[in-house]
Amino acid sequence: MEKFIINGGNKLCGRFTVQSAKNSILPLISASIIKSGKTRILRCPKINDVIVMCEIIRSLGGSYEFDGDVLLLDTEKVSSWVMPKQLTQEIRASLFTVGALICRFGYASIYMPGGCNIGERPIDIHVDGLRAIGVNVTENEERIFSGNRLLAREVTLRFPSVGATENLMMASLRAKGITVLKNCAKEPEIVDLQRYLNLIGAKISGAGTGVIKIEGGITPCKEDVEFLPSSDRIELGTVLYAAASVGGELEIESEEIKNSDFISKLFKNNACKIHNINGNIYYIGFSRPAVGFGRVATGPYPEFPTDLQPQLTACACSSVGVTAVIERVFPNRFAYVEQLRLFGARADVFANACIIEGGRLHGAKVTAGDLRGGASLIIGALSAEGESEIRNVSHVDRGYYKLEDKLSALGAKIRRERY
Ligand code: UD1
Repeated sequence: MEKFIINGGNKLCGRFTVQSAKNSILPLISASIIKSGKTRILRCPKINDVIVMCEIIRSLGGSYEFDGDVLLLDTEKVSSWVMPKQLTQEIRASLFTVGALICRFGYASIYMPGGCNIGERPIDIHVDGLRAIGVNVTENEERIFSGNRLLAREVTLRFPSVGATENLMMASLRAKGITVLKNCAKEPEIVDLQRYLNLIGAKISGAGTGVIKIEGGITPCKEDVEFLPSSDRIELGTVLYAAASVGGELEIESEEIKNSDFISKLFKNNACKIHNINGNIYYIGFSRPAVGFGRVATGPYPEFPTDLQPQLTACACSSVGVTAVIERVFPNRFAYVEQLRLFGARADVFANACIIEGGRLHGAKVTAGDLRGGASLIIGALSAEGESEIRNVSHVDRGYYKLEDKLSALGAKIRRERY
Protein backbone atom coordinates (compact mmCIF):
# COMPACT_ATOMS: atom_id res chain seq x y z
CA MET A 1 0.00 0.00 0.00
CA GLU A 2 1.13 3.56 -0.61
CA LYS A 3 0.49 6.90 1.02
CA PHE A 4 1.21 10.58 0.40
CA ILE A 5 2.96 12.70 3.01
CA ILE A 6 2.08 16.36 2.49
CA ASN A 7 3.33 19.48 4.24
CA GLY A 8 0.69 22.10 3.62
CA GLY A 9 0.80 25.83 3.05
CA ASN A 10 2.98 26.12 -0.07
CA LYS A 11 1.70 28.11 -3.02
CA LEU A 12 1.38 26.37 -6.39
CA CYS A 13 3.38 28.18 -9.06
CA GLY A 14 4.52 27.22 -12.55
CA ARG A 15 3.40 25.54 -15.75
CA PHE A 16 0.94 22.65 -15.63
CA THR A 17 0.36 20.30 -18.57
CA VAL A 18 -3.08 18.68 -18.59
CA GLN A 19 -3.32 14.97 -19.53
CA SER A 20 -5.79 13.61 -22.09
CA ALA A 21 -9.20 12.99 -20.55
CA LYS A 22 -9.53 9.68 -18.71
CA ASN A 23 -13.25 9.62 -19.34
CA SER A 24 -12.66 9.99 -23.09
CA ILE A 25 -9.87 7.42 -23.28
CA LEU A 26 -11.74 4.60 -21.50
CA PRO A 27 -14.67 4.44 -24.00
CA LEU A 28 -12.21 5.01 -26.87
CA ILE A 29 -10.28 1.90 -25.85
CA SER A 30 -13.58 -0.01 -26.02
CA ALA A 31 -14.49 1.60 -29.34
CA SER A 32 -11.18 0.45 -30.85
CA ILE A 33 -12.69 -3.07 -30.87
CA ILE A 34 -15.19 -1.95 -33.55
CA LYS A 35 -12.43 -1.16 -36.02
CA SER A 36 -10.36 -4.35 -35.97
CA GLY A 37 -6.84 -2.97 -36.38
CA LYS A 38 -4.51 -0.36 -34.96
CA THR A 39 -5.44 2.80 -33.06
CA ARG A 40 -2.90 5.21 -31.57
CA ILE A 41 -4.19 7.35 -28.70
CA LEU A 42 -1.99 10.40 -28.10
CA ARG A 43 -1.06 12.05 -24.78
CA CYS A 44 -2.45 9.02 -22.96
CA PRO A 45 -1.70 8.93 -19.21
CA LYS A 46 -0.60 5.50 -17.88
CA ILE A 47 -3.19 5.61 -15.10
CA ASN A 48 -4.51 2.43 -13.53
CA ASP A 49 -7.97 2.61 -15.14
CA VAL A 50 -6.37 2.84 -18.60
CA ILE A 51 -4.15 -0.17 -17.87
CA VAL A 52 -7.16 -2.22 -16.69
CA MET A 53 -9.10 -1.36 -19.88
CA CYS A 54 -6.07 -2.31 -21.99
CA GLU A 55 -5.78 -5.62 -20.12
CA ILE A 56 -9.44 -6.27 -20.95
CA ILE A 57 -8.61 -5.76 -24.65
CA ARG A 58 -5.70 -8.21 -24.25
CA SER A 59 -7.89 -10.81 -22.58
CA LEU A 60 -10.35 -10.57 -25.50
CA GLY A 61 -7.52 -11.39 -27.94
CA GLY A 62 -6.12 -7.93 -28.78
CA SER A 63 -2.84 -6.34 -27.73
CA TYR A 64 -1.47 -2.99 -26.57
CA GLU A 65 1.77 -1.19 -25.82
CA PHE A 66 2.89 2.25 -24.74
CA ASP A 67 5.44 4.28 -26.66
CA GLY A 68 6.05 7.15 -24.25
CA ASP A 69 2.64 8.72 -23.83
CA VAL A 70 1.21 7.15 -27.00
CA LEU A 71 -1.02 4.13 -26.46
CA LEU A 72 -1.00 1.70 -29.39
CA LEU A 73 -3.97 -0.66 -29.45
CA ASP A 74 -4.30 -3.54 -31.89
CA THR A 75 -7.75 -5.12 -31.95
CA GLU A 76 -7.44 -7.16 -35.16
CA LYS A 77 -7.23 -10.45 -33.27
CA VAL A 78 -10.00 -9.71 -30.78
CA SER A 79 -12.04 -12.89 -31.02
CA SER A 80 -13.96 -13.19 -27.76
CA TRP A 81 -17.07 -11.33 -26.62
CA VAL A 82 -16.90 -12.69 -23.07
CA MET A 83 -15.57 -10.04 -20.71
CA PRO A 84 -13.10 -11.32 -18.08
CA LYS A 85 -14.83 -11.39 -14.68
CA GLN A 86 -12.03 -10.10 -12.45
CA LEU A 87 -10.95 -7.17 -14.65
CA THR A 88 -14.55 -6.20 -15.35
CA GLN A 89 -15.24 -5.98 -11.66
CA GLU A 90 -12.28 -3.62 -11.13
CA ILE A 91 -13.63 -0.82 -13.28
CA ARG A 92 -17.06 0.63 -14.11
CA ALA A 93 -15.98 1.71 -17.60
CA SER A 94 -15.64 -1.98 -18.57
CA LEU A 95 -19.40 -1.74 -19.14
CA PHE A 96 -18.76 0.52 -22.15
CA THR A 97 -17.20 -2.45 -23.95
CA VAL A 98 -20.67 -4.01 -24.33
CA GLY A 99 -21.71 -1.61 -27.12
CA ALA A 100 -18.45 -2.17 -29.02
CA LEU A 101 -18.66 -5.97 -28.73
CA ILE A 102 -22.29 -5.97 -29.88
CA CYS A 103 -21.29 -3.82 -32.86
CA ARG A 104 -18.47 -6.18 -33.89
CA PHE A 105 -19.86 -9.61 -32.94
CA GLY A 106 -23.56 -9.18 -32.17
CA TYR A 107 -22.87 -10.53 -28.66
CA ALA A 108 -21.39 -9.47 -25.33
CA SER A 109 -21.22 -11.10 -21.94
CA ILE A 110 -20.28 -9.25 -18.76
CA TYR A 111 -20.42 -9.58 -14.98
CA MET A 112 -21.72 -6.56 -13.08
CA PRO A 113 -18.90 -3.99 -13.35
CA GLY A 114 -17.17 -2.49 -10.32
CA GLY A 115 -15.61 0.98 -9.96
CA CYS A 116 -15.48 3.85 -7.52
CA ASN A 117 -17.28 3.59 -4.21
CA ILE A 118 -19.66 6.53 -4.77
CA GLY A 119 -23.01 4.84 -4.18
CA GLU A 120 -25.50 2.84 -6.26
CA ARG A 121 -24.63 2.47 -9.94
CA PRO A 122 -27.39 0.57 -11.73
CA ILE A 123 -27.22 -0.27 -15.46
CA ASP A 124 -30.94 -0.21 -16.28
CA ILE A 125 -30.64 2.75 -18.72
CA HIS A 126 -28.03 0.81 -20.71
CA VAL A 127 -30.16 -2.34 -20.70
CA ASP A 128 -33.43 -0.56 -21.60
CA GLY A 129 -31.73 1.37 -24.43
CA LEU A 130 -30.10 -1.74 -25.87
CA ARG A 131 -33.38 -3.67 -25.64
CA ALA A 132 -35.09 -0.82 -27.53
CA ILE A 133 -32.79 -1.39 -30.53
CA GLY A 134 -33.42 -5.13 -30.47
CA VAL A 135 -30.71 -6.51 -28.17
CA ASN A 136 -31.84 -9.48 -26.13
CA VAL A 137 -30.55 -9.21 -22.55
CA THR A 138 -30.41 -12.09 -20.06
CA GLU A 139 -29.92 -10.74 -16.55
CA ASN A 140 -28.34 -13.23 -14.16
CA GLU A 141 -25.05 -12.74 -12.30
CA GLU A 142 -23.58 -12.71 -15.79
CA ARG A 143 -25.41 -10.42 -18.26
CA ILE A 144 -25.58 -11.81 -21.78
CA PHE A 145 -26.40 -9.45 -24.64
CA SER A 146 -27.28 -10.85 -28.04
CA GLY A 147 -28.23 -8.66 -30.94
CA ASN A 148 -27.34 -9.97 -34.35
CA ARG A 149 -30.07 -8.08 -36.18
CA LEU A 150 -30.67 -4.70 -34.61
CA LEU A 151 -33.43 -2.20 -35.35
CA ALA A 152 -32.65 1.42 -36.13
CA ARG A 153 -35.10 3.23 -33.82
CA GLU A 154 -35.75 6.39 -31.87
CA VAL A 155 -34.64 5.85 -28.26
CA THR A 156 -35.21 8.34 -25.43
CA LEU A 157 -33.00 7.92 -22.36
CA ARG A 158 -34.71 8.29 -18.97
CA PHE A 159 -31.64 10.25 -17.76
CA PRO A 160 -28.69 11.55 -19.84
CA SER A 161 -26.31 8.80 -18.67
CA VAL A 162 -22.80 9.21 -20.09
CA GLY A 163 -22.06 5.49 -20.30
CA ALA A 164 -25.48 4.54 -21.71
CA THR A 165 -25.14 7.21 -24.43
CA GLU A 166 -21.69 5.80 -25.32
CA ASN A 167 -22.85 2.18 -25.34
CA LEU A 168 -25.85 2.99 -27.54
CA MET A 169 -23.76 5.05 -29.98
CA MET A 170 -21.51 2.02 -30.50
CA ALA A 171 -24.12 -0.77 -30.50
CA SER A 172 -26.47 1.03 -32.89
CA LEU A 173 -23.73 1.16 -35.54
CA ARG A 174 -24.79 -2.45 -36.17
CA ALA A 175 -28.42 -1.48 -36.91
CA LYS A 176 -29.15 -0.70 -40.55
CA GLY A 177 -30.85 2.69 -40.94
CA ILE A 178 -30.76 5.73 -38.69
CA THR A 179 -30.96 5.43 -34.92
CA VAL A 180 -31.94 8.62 -33.09
CA LEU A 181 -30.90 8.90 -29.44
CA LYS A 182 -32.78 11.52 -27.42
CA ASN A 183 -32.00 13.03 -24.00
CA CYS A 184 -28.35 12.01 -24.51
CA ALA A 185 -25.45 13.04 -22.33
CA LYS A 186 -23.67 16.12 -23.77
CA GLU A 187 -20.25 15.72 -22.11
CA PRO A 188 -17.09 16.49 -24.13
CA GLU A 189 -16.21 12.76 -23.96
CA ILE A 190 -19.32 12.02 -26.06
CA VAL A 191 -18.02 14.48 -28.68
CA ASP A 192 -14.64 12.70 -28.57
CA LEU A 193 -16.32 9.33 -29.12
CA GLN A 194 -18.26 10.68 -32.12
CA ARG A 195 -15.02 12.11 -33.57
CA TYR A 196 -13.29 8.73 -33.17
CA LEU A 197 -16.18 6.67 -34.55
CA ASN A 198 -16.47 9.00 -37.58
CA LEU A 199 -12.71 8.71 -38.07
CA ILE A 200 -13.05 4.92 -38.43
CA GLY A 201 -15.94 5.20 -40.89
CA ALA A 202 -19.14 5.88 -38.94
CA LYS A 203 -21.64 8.60 -39.78
CA ILE A 204 -22.75 10.11 -36.50
CA SER A 205 -23.92 13.65 -35.83
CA GLY A 206 -25.27 15.62 -32.90
CA ALA A 207 -22.79 14.70 -30.13
CA GLY A 208 -22.66 17.55 -27.62
CA THR A 209 -26.40 18.15 -28.03
CA GLY A 210 -29.30 16.17 -26.58
CA VAL A 211 -30.04 14.37 -29.88
CA ILE A 212 -27.54 12.08 -31.64
CA LYS A 213 -28.16 10.47 -35.04
CA ILE A 214 -26.29 7.31 -35.94
CA GLU A 215 -26.28 5.86 -39.44
CA GLY A 216 -25.85 2.13 -38.97
CA GLY A 217 -24.61 -0.74 -41.09
CA ILE A 218 -21.15 0.74 -41.70
CA THR A 219 -17.95 -1.10 -42.54
CA PRO A 220 -15.20 0.27 -40.29
CA CYS A 221 -11.91 1.20 -41.95
CA LYS A 222 -8.91 -1.14 -41.75
CA GLU A 223 -6.20 1.55 -41.90
CA ASP A 224 -4.27 2.58 -38.79
CA VAL A 225 -5.75 5.64 -37.10
CA GLU A 226 -4.36 8.21 -34.67
CA PHE A 227 -6.51 10.14 -32.20
CA LEU A 228 -5.88 13.01 -29.78
CA PRO A 229 -8.58 13.10 -27.06
CA SER A 230 -9.62 16.38 -25.48
CA SER A 231 -7.78 17.42 -22.33
CA ASP A 232 -8.89 16.21 -18.92
CA ARG A 233 -11.17 18.90 -17.49
CA ILE A 234 -11.32 17.01 -14.17
CA GLU A 235 -7.52 16.92 -13.77
CA LEU A 236 -7.47 20.60 -14.75
CA GLY A 237 -10.23 21.45 -12.26
CA THR A 238 -8.47 19.50 -9.51
CA VAL A 239 -5.29 21.55 -9.90
CA LEU A 240 -7.24 24.82 -10.14
CA TYR A 241 -9.15 24.06 -6.93
CA ALA A 242 -5.87 23.09 -5.25
CA ALA A 243 -4.33 26.42 -6.33
CA ALA A 244 -7.44 28.30 -5.21
CA SER A 245 -6.99 26.68 -1.76
CA VAL A 246 -3.33 27.57 -1.29
CA GLY A 247 -2.82 30.56 -3.60
CA GLY A 248 -0.30 30.79 -6.44
CA GLU A 249 0.23 31.48 -10.11
CA LEU A 250 -0.26 28.89 -12.83
CA GLU A 251 0.39 28.81 -16.54
CA ILE A 252 -1.83 26.23 -18.18
CA GLU A 253 -2.31 25.07 -21.74
CA SER A 254 -5.85 23.81 -22.23
CA GLU A 255 -8.74 24.62 -24.52
CA GLU A 256 -11.03 23.69 -21.62
CA ILE A 257 -10.30 26.91 -19.74
CA LYS A 258 -12.49 29.08 -21.92
CA ASN A 259 -15.23 26.44 -22.27
CA SER A 260 -15.85 25.29 -18.74
CA ASP A 261 -18.59 26.60 -16.54
CA PHE A 262 -16.88 25.16 -13.45
CA ILE A 263 -13.92 27.39 -14.15
CA SER A 264 -15.95 30.55 -14.60
CA LYS A 265 -17.65 29.71 -11.28
CA LEU A 266 -14.25 29.54 -9.64
CA PHE A 267 -13.22 32.88 -11.07
CA LYS A 268 -16.49 34.64 -10.30
CA ASN A 269 -16.41 33.59 -6.67
CA ASN A 270 -12.73 33.68 -5.87
CA ALA A 271 -11.24 36.78 -7.40
CA CYS A 272 -8.77 34.78 -9.50
CA LYS A 273 -7.14 36.66 -12.32
CA ILE A 274 -6.84 35.09 -15.73
CA HIS A 275 -5.02 36.25 -18.88
CA ASN A 276 -4.85 34.57 -22.23
CA ILE A 277 -1.14 34.54 -23.10
CA ASN A 278 -1.21 32.89 -26.49
CA GLY A 279 -3.59 30.41 -28.16
CA ASN A 280 -4.72 27.99 -25.46
CA ILE A 281 -2.12 29.13 -22.93
CA TYR A 282 -3.50 30.95 -19.90
CA TYR A 283 -1.93 32.63 -16.88
CA ILE A 284 -4.03 32.34 -13.72
CA GLY A 285 -3.29 34.09 -10.44
CA PHE A 286 -4.93 32.91 -7.20
CA SER A 287 -4.97 34.89 -3.96
CA ARG A 288 -5.60 33.08 -0.71
CA PRO A 289 -7.97 32.58 1.01
CA ALA A 290 -10.61 31.77 -1.57
CA VAL A 291 -14.11 33.16 -1.05
CA GLY A 292 -16.92 30.63 -0.33
CA PHE A 293 -18.82 29.43 -3.40
CA GLY A 294 -22.41 30.08 -2.27
CA ARG A 295 -24.74 27.40 -3.68
CA VAL A 296 -23.37 24.86 -6.16
CA ALA A 297 -25.44 21.97 -7.55
CA THR A 298 -23.94 19.19 -9.68
CA GLY A 299 -25.75 17.98 -12.78
CA PRO A 300 -25.29 16.56 -16.27
CA TYR A 301 -23.04 18.62 -18.59
CA PRO A 302 -22.94 21.60 -18.94
CA GLU A 303 -23.92 21.83 -15.28
CA PHE A 304 -21.27 21.56 -12.55
CA PRO A 305 -19.50 18.16 -12.86
CA THR A 306 -20.03 15.64 -10.08
CA ASP A 307 -16.40 14.54 -10.61
CA LEU A 308 -15.24 17.95 -9.30
CA GLN A 309 -17.70 18.14 -6.41
CA PRO A 310 -15.28 16.69 -3.78
CA GLN A 311 -12.46 19.02 -4.92
CA LEU A 312 -14.72 22.10 -4.73
CA THR A 313 -15.91 21.00 -1.28
CA ALA A 314 -12.29 20.65 -0.10
CA CYS A 315 -11.47 24.12 -1.45
CA ALA A 316 -14.55 25.54 0.30
CA CYS A 317 -13.32 24.07 3.62
CA SER A 318 -10.35 26.48 3.71
CA SER A 319 -12.20 29.44 2.19
CA VAL A 320 -13.82 32.44 3.84
CA GLY A 321 -17.61 32.15 3.95
CA VAL A 322 -20.25 29.51 3.45
CA THR A 323 -20.79 27.04 0.62
CA ALA A 324 -23.75 24.72 0.02
CA VAL A 325 -23.02 21.79 -2.30
CA ILE A 326 -25.96 19.81 -3.67
CA GLU A 327 -25.12 16.49 -5.35
CA ARG A 328 -27.73 15.59 -7.98
CA VAL A 329 -25.89 12.89 -9.98
CA PHE A 330 -24.59 10.48 -7.30
CA PRO A 331 -26.60 11.49 -4.17
CA ASN A 332 -24.33 9.53 -1.79
CA ARG A 333 -21.07 10.97 -3.03
CA PHE A 334 -20.04 12.51 0.31
CA ALA A 335 -18.22 9.64 2.07
CA TYR A 336 -14.94 11.61 1.90
CA VAL A 337 -16.38 14.48 4.01
CA GLU A 338 -15.80 12.53 7.23
CA GLN A 339 -12.09 12.42 6.32
CA LEU A 340 -12.01 16.17 5.52
CA ARG A 341 -13.39 16.79 9.01
CA LEU A 342 -10.21 15.21 10.43
CA PHE A 343 -8.37 18.29 9.05
CA GLY A 344 -10.71 20.41 11.20
CA ALA A 345 -13.06 21.18 8.30
CA ARG A 346 -16.52 22.41 9.30
CA ALA A 347 -18.60 20.46 6.81
CA ASP A 348 -21.91 18.69 7.48
CA VAL A 349 -23.79 16.33 5.19
CA PHE A 350 -27.60 16.38 5.05
CA ALA A 351 -28.99 13.79 2.61
CA ASN A 352 -27.56 14.84 -0.81
CA ALA A 353 -26.22 18.20 0.38
CA CYS A 354 -23.12 19.36 2.23
CA ILE A 355 -22.91 22.70 4.04
CA ILE A 356 -19.40 24.04 4.54
CA GLU A 357 -18.28 26.89 6.73
CA GLY A 358 -14.75 27.83 5.66
CA GLY A 359 -11.86 28.17 8.12
CA ARG A 360 -8.30 27.08 8.87
CA LEU A 361 -7.31 23.44 8.47
CA HIS A 362 -4.62 21.51 10.34
CA GLY A 363 -2.61 18.43 9.33
CA ALA A 364 -4.20 14.99 9.86
CA LYS A 365 -3.95 11.29 9.02
CA VAL A 366 -6.72 10.41 6.55
CA THR A 367 -7.63 7.57 4.18
CA ALA A 368 -8.81 7.85 0.58
CA GLY A 369 -11.95 5.81 -0.17
CA ASP A 370 -12.46 6.67 -3.85
CA LEU A 371 -10.78 8.50 -6.74
CA ARG A 372 -12.16 12.05 -6.55
CA GLY A 373 -12.67 11.86 -2.78
CA GLY A 374 -8.94 11.06 -2.60
CA ALA A 375 -8.19 14.14 -4.72
CA SER A 376 -10.20 16.26 -2.28
CA LEU A 377 -8.06 14.98 0.62
CA ILE A 378 -4.93 16.06 -1.24
CA ILE A 379 -6.43 19.56 -1.59
CA GLY A 380 -7.32 19.54 2.12
CA ALA A 381 -3.76 18.51 3.06
CA LEU A 382 -2.15 21.09 0.74
CA SER A 383 -4.06 23.91 2.40
CA ALA A 384 -3.71 22.58 5.99
CA GLU A 385 -1.04 23.81 8.39
CA GLY A 386 1.53 21.12 9.20
CA GLU A 387 2.05 17.55 8.02
CA SER A 388 -0.67 15.23 6.73
CA GLU A 389 -0.73 11.61 5.65
CA ILE A 390 -3.14 10.26 3.02
CA ARG A 391 -3.35 6.49 2.93
CA ASN A 392 -4.70 4.22 0.19
CA VAL A 393 -3.64 6.47 -2.68
CA SER A 394 -4.13 3.69 -5.24
CA HIS A 395 -7.63 5.19 -5.59
CA VAL A 396 -6.05 8.47 -6.76
CA ASP A 397 -3.73 6.63 -9.16
CA ARG A 398 -6.79 5.31 -11.01
CA GLY A 399 -7.36 8.75 -12.55
CA TYR A 400 -4.25 10.93 -12.08
CA TYR A 401 -0.84 10.11 -13.53
CA LYS A 402 1.98 10.86 -11.07
CA LEU A 403 -0.03 13.63 -9.46
CA GLU A 404 2.58 13.99 -6.71
CA ASP A 405 5.31 14.73 -9.31
CA LYS A 406 3.10 17.27 -11.06
CA LEU A 407 2.23 19.02 -7.77
CA SER A 408 5.88 18.89 -6.57
CA ALA A 409 6.95 20.61 -9.79
CA LEU A 410 4.56 23.43 -8.84
CA GLY A 411 6.15 23.78 -5.39
CA ALA A 412 3.94 21.51 -3.25
CA LYS A 413 5.65 19.48 -0.51
CA ILE A 414 4.31 16.03 -1.30
CA ARG A 415 5.99 12.62 -1.44
CA ARG A 416 4.89 9.01 -1.85
CA GLU A 417 5.82 6.32 0.69
CA ARG A 418 5.03 2.63 1.14
CA TYR A 419 3.38 1.38 4.30
C1 UD1 B 1 -19.40 8.68 -16.17
C2 UD1 B 1 -18.00 8.98 -15.72
C3 UD1 B 1 -17.97 9.34 -14.25
C4 UD1 B 1 -18.91 10.49 -13.97
C5 UD1 B 1 -20.31 10.18 -14.51
C6 UD1 B 1 -21.27 11.35 -14.41
C7 UD1 B 1 -16.61 7.57 -17.13
C8 UD1 B 1 -15.65 6.46 -17.20
N1 UD1 B 1 -17.16 7.80 -15.93
O1 UD1 B 1 -19.84 7.55 -15.42
O2 UD1 B 1 -16.62 9.72 -13.90
O3 UD1 B 1 -19.00 10.70 -12.58
O4 UD1 B 1 -20.24 9.81 -15.91
O5 UD1 B 1 -20.75 12.46 -15.03
O6 UD1 B 1 -16.86 8.26 -18.10
N2 UD1 B 1 -27.70 5.65 -13.86
C9 UD1 B 1 -28.79 4.81 -13.71
N3 UD1 B 1 -28.90 3.76 -14.56
C10 UD1 B 1 -28.00 3.50 -15.54
C11 UD1 B 1 -26.89 4.36 -15.68
C12 UD1 B 1 -26.77 5.45 -14.82
O7 UD1 B 1 -29.65 5.02 -12.83
O8 UD1 B 1 -28.17 2.53 -16.28
C13 UD1 B 1 -27.55 6.80 -12.94
C14 UD1 B 1 -26.30 6.66 -12.07
O9 UD1 B 1 -26.54 5.85 -10.93
C15 UD1 B 1 -26.02 8.10 -11.72
C16 UD1 B 1 -26.42 8.84 -13.00
O10 UD1 B 1 -27.31 7.97 -13.71
O11 UD1 B 1 -26.85 8.51 -10.66
C17 UD1 B 1 -25.25 9.23 -13.88
O12 UD1 B 1 -24.53 8.07 -14.28
P1 UD1 B 1 -23.78 7.98 -15.67
O13 UD1 B 1 -23.87 9.26 -16.41
O14 UD1 B 1 -24.22 6.73 -16.35
O15 UD1 B 1 -22.27 7.76 -15.19
P2 UD1 B 1 -21.19 6.79 -15.84
O16 UD1 B 1 -21.31 6.78 -17.31
O17 UD1 B 1 -21.17 5.50 -15.12
